[in-house]
Amino acid sequence: MGEFDGRVALVTGGALGIGRGIVEEFAAAGAAVAIADVNADAAGALASELGRAGHRAIATVGDVASAADADRMVAETIAAFGRLDILVNNAGIHPAEWFFRVEDMPEDAWDRILDVNLKGIYLMAKAASPQIRRAGGGAIVNIASVQGLDAAHGPLVRGEQRRRPLAHAPDGARLCPGEHPRRRRLPRHDRHRHVPSRRAGCGRRH
Ligand SMILES: NC(=O)c1ccc[n+]([C@@H]2O[C@H](COP(=O)([O-])OP(=O)(O)OC[C@H]3O[C@@H](n4cnc5c(N)ncnc54)[C@H](O)[C@@H]3O)[C@@H](O)[C@H]2O)c1
Repeated sequence: MGEFDGRVALVTGGALGIGRGIVEEFAAAGAAVAIADVNADAAGALASELGRAGHRAIATVGDVASAADADRMVAETIAAFGRLDILVNNAGIHPAEWFFRVEDMPEDAWDRILDVNLKGIYLMAKAASPQIRRAGGGAIVNIASVQGLDAAHGPLVRGEQRRRPLAHAPDGARLCPGEHPRRRRLPRHDRHRHVPSRRAGCGRRH
């Protein structure tokens, strides 16, 4: 008996990397697995490999940043296995552009990162939630980087401010992280240090 016998898991970005490991673990624990990935060849190869090993797996090819693809990947999972219990939002991209100086970063790269890493989670959850509810409740697991902790408030703003200075350091340029003083319940006398407008000098070089 496996821990996930009778359960169905959909793993985005499940064809390669960490996602592949998650797919293999779910399969080994008895779940039927939908490998949802833009890479059709890798997803198909993994589904075949798991099938040969006696597991239930399908490849469902699509882009998590597309609402139509998200809906279709969930629909194909239901068509194959009849239910959906677990969604793992693992697909994520972190292209080298992320570490460019801000003026060198193409706008479309910025948009694509947010579309896949952020909007993709929303679109997949939106498509999967009714099915998970219909199955009696399950889980949605979002995989992120610890870098995301820096971006917990304001869409990626703090993460951006922590990371970007690395690229700008050779210029001697400084970017100043700021935080609303009420947010961290700082002692009143300490709050001014965390107001961006009062930190224009930043006090230290990154
Ligand atoms: N590798 C690390 O060190 C690391 C560290 C922290 C967090 N993470 C997070 O773990 C997750 C997986 O990382 P990884 O290193 O295994 O990545 P990877 O690049 O090795 O694999 C990503 C998989 O997602 C697929 N994919 C990419 N864009 C997609 C899209 N739009 N729609 C559907 N599938 C798509 C790719 O085809 C690939 O199979 C990401 O969310 C990443 O941010 C990774």
